[in-house]
Amino acid sequence: MPNCHGFVTKENLPFLTRKELEKTMENPIRPRRNRRSKAIRNMLAEVSLRPAQLVWPVFVMEGKKTREPISAMPGVDRVTMDTLLMDCEKALKLGVCSVALFPKIAEEKKDPHGKESLNPDGLVQRTVKLLKKELPELSLITDVALDPFSSDGHDGIVANGKIVNDESVAVLAKMAVSQAQAGADFVAPSDMMDGRIGAIRSALDQAGFSEVGIISYAAKYASAFYGPFREALDSAPKAGDKKTYQMDYRNSREALREVFLDIDEGADIVMVKPAGAYLDVIQQVRANVEIPVAAYQVSGEYAMIKAAEKMGWINGPAAMEESLFAIRRAGADLIFTYFALEMAAKL
Ligand code: PBG
Repeated sequence: MPNCHGFVTKENLPFLTRKELEKTMENPIRPRRNRRSKAIRNMLAEVSLRPAQLVWPVFVMEGKKTREPISAMPGVDRVTMDTLLMDCEKALKLGVCSVALFPKIAEEKKDPHGKESLNPDGLVQRTVKLLKKELPELSLITDVALDPFSSDGHDGIVANGKIVNDESVAVLAKMAVSQAQAGADFVAPSDMMDGRIGAIRSALDQAGFSEVGIISYAAKYASAFYGPFREALDSAPKAGDKKTYQMDYRNSREALREVFLDIDEGADIVMVKPAGAYLDVIQQVRANVEIPVAAYQVSGEYAMIKAAEKMGWINGPAAMEESLFAIRRAGADLIFTYFALEMAAKL
């Protein structure tokens, strides 16, 4: 019988005598003592995770009492406002008190300038108003980027095949104000245009929304892991890719540069996205800034775990938990994740 302390006994290692063993194992340091029992492991765990540190990204669409599954994201649905309200009540009960809102805009409402994003009666604005009124304790984070509204599917305005920076920033600043007017607690620019944090901060302040915060997607990489999200919103770029504005995955010093600029311009929270393949970036950002650091475990990261689970190849809930704790260990203070409710239920 191997004994529970993990020592080798004569019985389980019959080819060595106790004496021979003691000689080879003189005064060993035994880190395993600190892992002996669940109680000890829990006592010594370096990081913890609370439901309130999870931000739940949700997809809203027009209509009534409807739920549409997203095929590459099992367990995640596009829902109508009334249904979303019920889902958010459930989130609050589980201790998840922040949601990030993404709209599915009808194709006929899209245009090259994403005009619909400024409609005070648009889908995002109406949803924010409803959630704020019915669930005032919920913290509402709105996405500032053109892709859900743009007929080109890019985060900025396209002119002659290029994503034009300053014209895009002008629209994004207006969009942020419109979302603040509806009642957003935080606006979250995910577009990666230069100078947008400063422009949005001054636009918000001038419009009287100095209390509305900015969560900057500061280090957002051009990533293949966004695939399922673009399916969910039908927002994939019609031409080209996003590599001229989102970051190159070969770089991490550039992430710090982006983060420092956004902090200078007035970001309240900075984000690294995606999370799982960028733990080193999260760690570097955490080590270099004082403000909270968020990480976004994106749609493809979620899809991979769910797909492997479905195939019977991994233990899904265990992989979910491990992936989220790893992101916390790397240094993220808060995590945007489609697992928010499933994880919170486990905590
Ligand atoms: C676009 C946006 C994307 C995501 C959030 N905002 C996709 C993209 O940049 O193409 C991805 C989120 C996810 O994959 O879960 N502004």
